[in-house]
Amino acid sequence: MNGLQEVETRKYTKPPQMPGLPALGSALELMRSPLAFFVRGYHELGSVYRVRAANRDLYVLAGRQANLFMTQKGDGVLHSHELFGDFARELETEIFLVAMDGAPHRHLRGEMRDGYAREAYMRYLPEMGALIQNTARAWRVGETIPATRMLQRLVSRQLSQAIANFDAEPYFDALSVFLNTIMNAAVLKTWPRIMLKNPRYVRAKRRVMDMAREILRRHREEPVAGRAPDLIDDLLHATTIDGKPLSEAALIAATVGPMIAGIDTAANTLSFLLYSLLKNPDVLARVQSEAQRVPAAEYPTFAELKAMRALHGAALETLRLYPVAFAVPRMSVAEFEFDGYVVPKNQEVFVASGVTHYLPEFFPEPYQFDIDRYDAPRQEQRKAGVFVPYGLGAHTCLGAGMAELIIMFTTAMLLRTVELTLAPSDYVLRVRNMPLPRPDNRFGLRVMALKNGGAQ
Ligand code: HEM
Repeated sequence: MNGLQEVETRKYTKPPQMPGLPALGSALELMRSPLAFFVRGYHELGSVYRVRAANRDLYVLAGRQANLFMTQKGDGVLHSHELFGDFARELETEIFLVAMDGAPHRHLRGEMRDGYAREAYMRYLPEMGALIQNTARAWRVGETIPATRMLQRLVSRQLSQAIANFDAEPYFDALSVFLNTIMNAAVLKTWPRIMLKNPRYVRAKRRVMDMAREILRRHREEPVAGRAPDLIDDLLHATTIDGKPLSEAALIAATVGPMIAGIDTAANTLSFLLYSLLKNPDVLARVQSEAQRVPAAEYPTFAELKAMRALHGAALETLRLYPVAFAVPRMSVAEFEFDGYVVPKNQEVFVASGVTHYLPEFFPEPYQFDIDRYDAPRQEQRKAGVFVPYGLGAHTCLGAGMAELIIMFTTAMLLRTVELTLAPSDYVLRVRNMPLPRPDNRFGLRVMALKNGGAQ
C-alpha cells in the first residue's frame, strides 16, 4: 500500500486500542501511573490511540504533533465545558474560567490577567520571605516534616496573600478536602459522584465558600488604599463578555479559582523539586551556593532570583520530569482528523501533553535529572511543542509566571534558612496521584540545622 492509500484507509478505521483487562480495561494502570501509561501507548501505538478504562472510552493524542495541534487548532474542536461543567455547577455558576470556551472564555481571562501576573506576587516578596522563614524557624533540629502537606500549606498562604491580600491558613484543611473531592468526583471521575454528598465534603465546601465571602466582603468594605489592586479588586469591576457584572456565585468561584488551580500544582512541584535536590547532592550544592550568595538578613529580589541559573534549571527539570498536569482533558465538539484518523464528535479526549518530556529525540537521556539542559547552547526546551508543563492552547496556565516565582523563591528561602536531608534517608520516590501526582506520604524532610540566626 502506498502512503496516500494508507492515509485514506486510516480515515475509515478507528485508531488502535491499548489492550487491557476484560472488565476494567486499562483503569488500574491509568490510576497508578498515568503518564508512564501514555508514554508507553505512544511508543507502542503512535500519536493517537484508544483506551478503555472501566466504562469510559478515551481517545489519547500524544507526541509533538499532538501538542502542536492543540496549540494551533485544538480549541476550535476540543472544549473544556463538557468536562469541567460539573465543577462549575458545584459552584452554582456557569461563569467559571476553566469550564468556559471560545470568546466568553477569552474575555474573562483578559479581565483576570493582571491579578494572576507575576507582579502580584512580587509586591509581597518581603512578606513571603518572612512567612517562609518563620515557618522553617519553627521547626526543631532532628524533626521530620511531612514534605508535601507542609508545602501545600505554605503555598496556600502565599497564594491567598498575592491574590487576595488574605491569609488562608485557617481554611487550609477545608480547602484540601474540597479540592481533592471535587477534582476526583466532578472532573476526573475517579471517585463516584455520591462523594459530593459526603458530609465531610459538604462541610469543607461551606467553609471554603465562607472564606470567599469574607475575602469579597473585606475588598468591598476596604477599597484599595495604600496598596496596588489585586485579583479580587479587579473581579469586583470585571464584566462578562456581554458587559454584565459578575454574579455573586461567579465572584465566589473566581475567588476560590486560584486556590483550586494553584495550591496542589505549585506545592506538589515544589515537593518533587526538594526531593530531586536532596537526591542529587552536587545539584543541591550548586543551588545552595546561589541561594546563600544573597546577604543573610535579606531575601532574594526578582533580579537575583533570575540570575540563579542552577535553581532555574532545577525548577524546569522538575517540571519536565514530574509534570503535575501532564494531560489536558477535553470533549470533542465536532468530528476532526488527527494524524490520518477521525476523532468523532462528543468523544472524551486526553491530549497527553507531558509525553514529549520523555522522548529522547527532544530530551536526550530523558530519565536523567539534568539541570543544564535549559541554558545555551543546549536549550532543549526551546523547540515548539516539546516542553509544555503549563498546558497548551487557550487554557494555558494563567498563573505560570507566578508559579515559577513561588517555586524558586520558596526553595531559595528554605535553603537559606534550614539544612535538610531526606527522611527516611534511603527514601526512593513513589508517586501517588491524589488527584495530581505527588511524592507519597513517606517522603519527609529531616531538619539538620537552622541557619541565619534560627533558634537551635
Ligand atoms: C507548577 C505549577 C503549575 C502547573 C504545572 C500548572 C499547570 C496548568 C495547566 C496544565 C493548565 C491547563 C489546564 C487545562 O488546559 O485544562 C493550567 C490552567 C490554569 N492555571 Fe495553572 N499550573 C500551575 C500553577 C498555577 C498557579 C500557582 C495558579 C494561580 C496563581 C494557576 C492558575 C491557573 C488558572 C487560573 C488556569 C486556568 C486557565 C484557563 O482556564 O484559561 N496555576 N495550569
